[in-house]
Amino acid sequence: MKEIVLTGAGGPEMLLVAEVEAPEPGRGEVRVRVEASGVSFAEVQMLRRRYPMQPRFPFVPGYDLVGTVDAVGPGVTGVAVGDRVAAMPRTGAWRSRAVVRASSVVPVPAELDAGVAVAAVTNGVTAWQMLHQVARVRPGQTVLVHGASGGVGSLLTRLAVLAGARVIGTASSAKHDLVRELGGEPVDYRAADVPAAVRALAPAGVDAVFDHVGGPSLVESYSLLADGGIVISYGSASTLRDEGHWLTPYLGAARRVAGWQLARLLGRGRRRRATFYYVKPGPRFTQALTEVYRLMSAGDLTASIATRLPLEKADEALRQLVDGRASGKIVLEV
Ligand SMILES: NC(=O)c1ccc[n+]([C@@H]2O[C@H](COP(=O)([O-])OP(=O)(O)OC[C@H]3O[C@@H](n4cnc5c(N)ncnc54)[C@H](OP(=O)(O)O)[C@@H]3O)[C@@H](O)[C@H]2O)c1
Repeated sequence: MKEIVLTGAGGPEMLLVAEVEAPEPGRGEVRVRVEASGVSFAEVQMLRRRYPMQPRFPFVPGYDLVGTVDAVGPGVTGVAVGDRVAAMPRTGAWRSRAVVRASSVVPVPAELDAGVAVAAVTNGVTAWQMLHQVARVRPGQTVLVHGASGGVGSLLTRLAVLAGARVIGTASSAKHDLVRELGGEPVDYRAADVPAAVRALAPAGVDAVFDHVGGPSLVESYSLLADGGIVISYGSASTLRDEGHWLTPYLGAARRVAGWQLARLLGRGRRRRATFYYVKPGPRFTQALTEVYRLMSAGDLTASIATRLPLEKADEALRQLVDGRASGKIVLEV
């Protein structure tokens, strides 16, 4: 079988294609014949050694996968050879055969294309949980989605519209038509003064902001909240090229969020809230992905695919992601 190895920090040239023996599943594990795996910003951060608690080099990257179970280890119940499943191992998905915990897999409806299904694993659960379990957005509310044309952002925009919310979405101007098609009102984050543009559209403030940009954007996002609103910080894209320890921007964000939480406790924050979100496997992940797949099967939600490339072209996939050329998810097919 083939696997893609990230040999060290640097550019996409640090990826190697290796031929290895297929691994056998151990107790409580299943082996999946991978149909598609996703390419995500996490791998770009890993390439620069800036992803929180990433493994030591060399390792096989790949956050999520969709495929068919082709071997089952001892003690596995509820999953059988032939089942079509999705999983989010965080690393190790860029393989033609991958071993994962049987308890972590989620059934994938037969009618869903593997590329579309994999684009919804990490990004779909992230969007669904932030919207419905963290912000608890209600009909009639107004939300600000940063990066509304991106993988998470486009799903968030569509899910928020389905939930009856008004969506203002930041994106570069070339992607404004996509934001409109999803039901959002686009704001150009490169050309416009984003806070001023959002205030012009929503003078009373917004009820929720989904912020993957981090750095100064987080402060602006908090300042745009209406009374009782919530800002959810789920990434730090703007600090990718920072020098210094990867933890530094996260500590800065944690200090800010702690300050806002204290202000709220002291009754000085206009009941505004700020929190972090990090996607985790487990029963709530399974529940969220099942709901996302239900919406996709019903035709209410889809994930846009930027490019489909063969697994061996993982270096080209990362190059396209780093260049920002892609609009939608880049998928590796096996
Ligand atoms: N916390 C978690 O559990 C979790 C889970 C999944 C993803 N994430 C994070 O979510 C982020 C997005 O992931 P993704 O897979 O959706 O990436 P993606 O498809 O590359 O999308 C990122 C989007 O961000 C936009 N963008 C870049 N800089 C921006 C700025 N300064 N202001 C507003 N928008 C900006 C880009 O817009 P243009 O293309 O228009 O320039 C792009 O559409 C990443 O930082 C990732 O690490 C976090």
